[in-house]
Amino acid sequence: MDSIFSASFQKNLLFLPFFLTLKFVRLSIGIPEGSSLVRSVKDLSRRNSVSDIKARKGGPPIVCLTAYSKPMAQWLDPYMDLLLVGDSLAMVIYGMETTRGVTLDTMINHGAAVIRGSQRACVVVDLPHGTYEDSPCQAYTSARRVLDETGVQAVKLEGGVEFSDTVHHLTDKGIPVLGHIGLLPQKAENRGGFKIQGRDDDGWQQVMKDGLAIADAGAFAIVIEGTVEALALEITETVDVPTIGIGASPGCDGQILVTDDALGLFSDFTPSFVKRYADLGEEVAKAAEAYAEDVRAGNFPGLEHCFGVSKDKK
Ligand code: KIV
Repeated sequence: MDSIFSASFQKNLLFLPFFLTLKFVRLSIGIPEGSSLVRSVKDLSRRNSVSDIKARKGGPPIVCLTAYSKPMAQWLDPYMDLLLVGDSLAMVIYGMETTRGVTLDTMINHGAAVIRGSQRACVVVDLPHGTYEDSPCQAYTSARRVLDETGVQAVKLEGGVEFSDTVHHLTDKGIPVLGHIGLLPQKAENRGGFKIQGRDDDGWQQVMKDGLAIADAGAFAIVIEGTVEALALEITETVDVPTIGIGASPGCDGQILVTDDALGLFSDFTPSFVKRYADLGEEVAKAAEAYAEDVRAGNFPGLEHCFGVSKDKK
């Protein structure tokens, strides 16, 4: 006798436990049905939220770069899950010696520019040195301005255990925070320079505690910068929010680089953890040389670049 179940129904029955498990996982981490954990590159239909980033814990790597301007955001956005308006712009764009010289107003201007140039990436702005360390209230006032005046999704601040109350205060008041532990460029001067963290036992324990404290305080993800690899991996395996590594570990939940380092636009120095993906600085110099030669030789502008010239003359 023919089975009352068709072959395809029987096949579906086989997969039922899998679909139920998937549904349970989605519901428990708050992913709406029909949405995928990873949006395809170039899906510009909506911007990633901080919840999208948080839901990527243990999933496919979260891809991040820094951006400081509208045109750079436009080029990068289709490929990025997150764009960081980092205070590294103090050194990279403004030629300062450290990241500490940049103001909140400057960060806000760059944050607004990056929002204008992006549609897909979750955009985060760094709270600069001197705008959040005094008290959780100071941090709130600064963070509120950043979110209200730029439209970005979150702020980032540097620090571990000693800033967990601040992160708690911000997240309690609805300000999403990206943590930043390990090597802290804003504090490098006080810690004897840009040093890899976690090489000795005390250092290791401290960075571990920092990670736990910032995750507990409600950060939606944590940047781990400049630590020994195994420490970054251990933090990633311990905390329940995504980690984003820079000079950290391939085992982090995501990776970030300073775009100008990766594209060869910033050449003052290149940290050893940077991989160069292009030499745009060289290309800029070549273009400048060609333009200078053209102008000096009278080859630019041609009549085709001028107004009011009759067509037969062009
Ligand atoms: O300011 C910045 O660009 C950063 C990244 C290096 C993570 O904080």
